[in-house]
Amino acid sequence: MADVNIGLDGNSRKAVAEALNGVLADTYILYMKTHSYHWNVTGPQFHTLHVMFEEQYREMWAALDVIAERVRALGEFAPTSGADFANRSGLESADTEPPKATDMIKNLLADHESLVRRAREALETASQADDAATDDLITQRIQTHEKTAWMLRAMIS
Ligand SMILES: [Fe+2]
Repeated sequence: MADVNIGLDGNSRKAVAEALNGVLADTYILYMKTHSYHWNVTGPQFHTLHVMFEEQYREMWAALDVIAERVRALGEFAPTSGADFANRSGLESADTEPPKATDMIKNLLADHESLVRRAREALETASQADDAATDDLITQRIQTHEKTAWMLRAMIS
């Protein structure tokens, strides 16, 4: 395999890729939870939440690809299995029994906030490595998750 020669040393690339894989894993778990909530939500807010959850899971699905491909561009591998994602993620997978609509919102809010905190750590790692491209990507992810968190918070405030 050809060496990666992009002006970032191997240790930096590994550290940044590891941080990105953590963000990727959190995004994957939250994507799955949001998609399952889209299917399983009930109650008077059904339509609003069904549509809102779809917007959110579609956005995360697209982001997964961008994050994983950044890991590959750094010369490292992205996780290959659900178990690997679960191990790397700081988030809990969705409960087997779907929660009430308000609890869905609360759970997603807590997860988006947790993801933002993790992304902030990854941003620190990318900055220390002078990896501007990853820095930019993670900054965009923070912005998106903070905005989603605001919208969820607004629904239960
Ligand atoms: Fe659907």
